[in-house]
Amino acid sequence: MATPVIDRGQGAGASAGPGLTTTQSPFIEAAQRAGQLYIEQPYELYSASNHDAWQHLFSRMTGRWQAYANDRFLQGIDSLCLPADRVPRLDDVNRFLAPRTGFRAKGVSGYVPAFVFFDCLRNREFPTTITIRDGVSLDYLPEPDIFHDIAGHVPMHTDRAFADTLVRFGDCAHTAASLVAGIRDQDEKMRRITSVFRAMARFFWFSIEFGLMKGTDGRGYKVYGSGLLSSHGEIAHAVDSPSVQRYPFQLEWVVNQSFEIDRHQPLLFSVQSFEHLFELVGELEAWMRAGKLDNVAPGEPAMSEADVKSFLDASVAAA
Ligand SMILES: [Fe+2]
Repeated sequence: MATPVIDRGQGAGASAGPGLTTTQSPFIEAAQRAGQLYIEQPYELYSASNHDAWQHLFSRMTGRWQAYANDRFLQGIDSLCLPADRVPRLDDVNRFLAPRTGFRAKGVSGYVPAFVFFDCLRNREFPTTITIRDGVSLDYLPEPDIFHDIAGHVPMHTDRAFADTLVRFGDCAHTAASLVAGIRDQDEKMRRITSVFRAMARFFWFSIEFGLMKGTDGRGYKVYGSGLLSSHGEIAHAVDSPSVQRYPFQLEWVVNQSFEIDRHQPLLFSVQSFEHLFELVGELEAWMRAGKLDNVAPGEPAMSEADVKSFLDASVAAA
C-alpha cells in the first residue's frame, strides 16, 4: 500500500505514518522479526517530525562543532554535504564518502554483534542506524540513531588515517578469533574471548566514541569521538569542564579502564594525531598476540550473548 505523504517543500516528502523514530518504528520491528540485519533506508517513511528532529539536532550542533571539533571533522562535514534541514539519504552520503576512503554507510535494523560489527569495518562498511530519536528526547538516548551515526561518526570516515584505523579494528577482531580457534577448553576459550573483547571495546570507546586530540597549536583539546560530536551538552563539557580528567592515551590504562554509558564521561584520553591512533591499534593487536589482553580488569562493558556467539562463530571459521 502506498504511504501517504505530505509536502514539506523543495520536493522532500514526509510520511504521515509513524515514521522511523527510535524504538517506535513498525518498519524496524518487522525487519528485526524477520531476522533482517542489513536493510535499505525506506526514505519515504520518515515523518515530518523525524526531519524536524534532524534539523533541530543539526542546527544546534553547528556552532559547537566550530568551537570544539577537530579540523578533519569540520572538513568531513563540508565534504559530505550533509543537509541541515532533513534526514540525509545514505546513498547521497555514500556518493561523497566512498571516493575519499572507500567507506560506505550501510543501513542496519538494530544491534550488530561485536565481531560482525568489526568485520564490517574491515570491509569499509559502517553499520548505520536509520531511525532518529524522538523530538522529546533530543538530549540523550541510550541507543544510537542516524544523527549519532551520520553526523557523529561518518564525517571522520572521510579522513584516510582515521578510516584505516577502523579497518585495523576489523583486523584485530579477526586476530582475536584466530588466536582462540585452537583452544579446546570451552570455558577457557570463553574467558579469553571475553577479556580480549573487553579490551577492544574499551579502546574503541575511549578513542572512536569519546576521543580527544590536542589542538594543532599543542594547547587545548579538540574532539574527534562521535559520542561527543553528536552530543550538544557533552561536547563542551568534555573540553571545558574542570571536573573531567584528561590524559594522554595510554594503552595499558585504557584496556583496563571500565566506563559507564549513561553519564557525561569523567575521564577522557587524547591522541596526538590519527596516524598516532592508527599506530596504537597496531600496538593493541601486538599486545593481543602476546597474550597481554587475556586478563584485563573486570567490569564494563559486558559481552552480550550475541557478541559471544559472533566471536565463537568466527573462531570456528578460523580453525
Ligand atoms: Fe557510536
